[in-house]
Amino acid sequence: MGTMIYLDNNATTPVDPEVLDAMMPYFREHFGNASSKQHPIGWKAEDAAERSRKVIAEAIGAQPGEIVFTSGATEANNLAIRGVAFRYRRKGNHIITAAAEHKAVLTVCEVLAKEGFEVSVLDVDTNGRVDPAEVRRNIRHDTILATLMFANNEIGTINDIGAIGNVCREAGVIFHTDATQALGKVPIDVDALKIDIASFSAHKLYGPKGCGALYVRKKEIPVEITPIIVGGGQERGMRAGTLNVPGIVGMAKAVEISLRRMNEEQERIRSLRDLLYDLLSEEVEHMRVNGHPEHRLAGTLNMTFRYVDAAALMSRVRNVAMSSSSACTSGTPGASHVLRAIGLTEEEAKASIRFSIGRFNTEEEIRVAASAIIDAVKKIRAHSPAYLMMESSRDKSIEPSNDH
Ligand SMILES: Cc1ncc(COP(=O)(O)O)c(C=O)c1O
Repeated sequence: MGTMIYLDNNATTPVDPEVLDAMMPYFREHFGNASSKQHPIGWKAEDAAERSRKVIAEAIGAQPGEIVFTSGATEANNLAIRGVAFRYRRKGNHIITAAAEHKAVLTVCEVLAKEGFEVSVLDVDTNGRVDPAEVRRNIRHDTILATLMFANNEIGTINDIGAIGNVCREAGVIFHTDATQALGKVPIDVDALKIDIASFSAHKLYGPKGCGALYVRKKEIPVEITPIIVGGGQERGMRAGTLNVPGIVGMAKAVEISLRRMNEEQERIRSLRDLLYDLLSEEVEHMRVNGHPEHRLAGTLNMTFRYVDAAALMSRVRNVAMSSSSACTSGTPGASHVLRAIGLTEEEAKASIRFSIGRFNTEEEIRVAASAIIDAVKKIRAHSPAYLMMESSRDKSIEPSNDH
């Protein structure tokens, strides 16, 4: 396979060596079950889980008792949305979400719609943002939940979470946010942003796969959720099952490292992303950036290369790992629902690539990747009848070279 340049950090990230070091003892010497209350081997595991819970809670301005550990963000989203829907069903059955959400939110809402709930799917603007005023307009007397993501995994757009939180709080609607892509990259304060429930996943911030968390508000206006997984009553009855102690310890370490380095690390990542964009735009015409120009994750660059099929481009550039739509939905055919939601045609969506830059990328990698991509775009276009026709007919005096 040769050396791969990994520019797919929104799909998943490698485990940070410091995280792995922190986890290792909990596979071997401290292997206990955190629910075993009768002996020190259990106490040790419980102690580690509780210390980790505190670290994760503090990172988002929450209390340890407001954190529920899950197997990842898919489970956290399921628990949040189904959990609120069934707990508050007597109060109302209307749920608000938006078209650019992750499938782990949209599919849960679709299933609930089949189970008798009413779901309003809001449009997003051409940058991928939800308008808080639109949230307000859609709230009805029977609205129980708004589930709107913090940062988009495909285009990196960051929603105005504070404004959405205000709208929901004023209307007495529970606000859940899928903050999977935001944790460790942008500051999150659940009180300041009036978030009631939030989903997180360790593997997006250099932690292990198979571990995530759900924040569920207890302070001021407590939120209750009906559990999905029942059994031994762990996690205060909200999520049964033996705790994944090594995963939890790893998640806490990953959160701690990302928070400690956030400003400096995100600045470095942003400059690599800008370098990638600059290198591409120097050589490639007819391309545009998808996502918000400012309110966007530092490492995300989603680009449409007109007259280029993204799948063909990826098969030519074998040494760069990138993504043509979200990894979680790339098993399903068709153009990305996020790109369609921001107004791209099916053809434009299929000409789009997501580059997501992370902690372990270097400037050298960005330069090598950029030149491989430029080369592939030029070669593909040289065989594209549509491109050649456009080139031969375009009036150079009026056609702008780049449309970003
Ligand atoms: C925004 C968002 N939500 C949810 C998920 C699912 O997370 P997990 O892999 O932890 O189930 C992802 C991962 O792709 C994501 O990016």
